[in-house]
Amino acid sequence: MKVLLINGSPHEKGCTYTALSECAKTLQEAGVETEFFWIGRKPMQGCVACGGCTRIGKCVFQDAVNDFTEQARQADGFIFGSPVYYSGMNGSLMSFMDRAFFSGPRGKSNPFAFKPAAAVVSARRAGTTSALDQMNKYFLHGQMPVIASRYWNMVHGNTPEEVMRDEEGLQIMRQLGRNMAWFLKLKAAGESAGIPLPEQEETRIATNFIR
Ligand SMILES: Cc1cc2nc3c(=O)[nH]c(=O)nc-3n(C[C@H](O)[C@H](O)[C@H](O)COP(=O)(O)O)c2cc1C
Repeated sequence: MKVLLINGSPHEKGCTYTALSECAKTLQEAGVETEFFWIGRKPMQGCVACGGCTRIGKCVFQDAVNDFTEQARQADGFIFGSPVYYSGMNGSLMSFMDRAFFSGPRGKSNPFAFKPAAAVVSARRAGTTSALDQMNKYFLHGQMPVIASRYWNMVHGNTPEEVMRDEEGLQIMRQLGRNMAWFLKLKAAGESAGIPLPEQEETRIATNFIR
């Protein structure tokens, strides 16, 4: 069992990483493998809505997004971390997730559906809950069970040292790791007991408000 921890911050070892590392600790204690994926700090191309992924099964821009979706096919769960920028997730991670969640399921297998996911955010002071709302939307759209902790998944700090002083935030992260591990074990037990993944209707109905 493996959980991918995606660091959406431009800081490889900053506050977001510190929060994700606390989740990784309790996942590992519960026997779950963890792997970090840092999206890096190069300019992140946004989705240009070209529809190319529908034809070729991956994003037309060959960068960290396609590397990630390939790795994601082997993962059993995900925790996405973002610093809060103007009360939302940071822009690079938004472009990254737009493209990963749009193109990934058009590839050879869906890397996300029915795998548990959670978002964690790091802020100096405010805007955490709106950033979390935004990130959780990807999981809810993609049929991913969203894992909860004992509060909303946030830490506060401008530096990793400050995050390490946010005792409540760190506890929330540790509990999130345990809850994710528990869910993964339940899912595996269900699979070995013969409980199949839910059936999907073959044709996806897509309407808008005028037709
Ligand atoms: C462009 C920008 C916008 C930010 N907006 C907010 C904000 O709305 N609320 C807040 O509390 N902190 C804000 N911050 C501070 C970061 O969210 C905070 O320092 C975070 O913990 C950094 O995480 P990192 O070390 O993983 O990058 C902002 C920082 C930047 C660079």
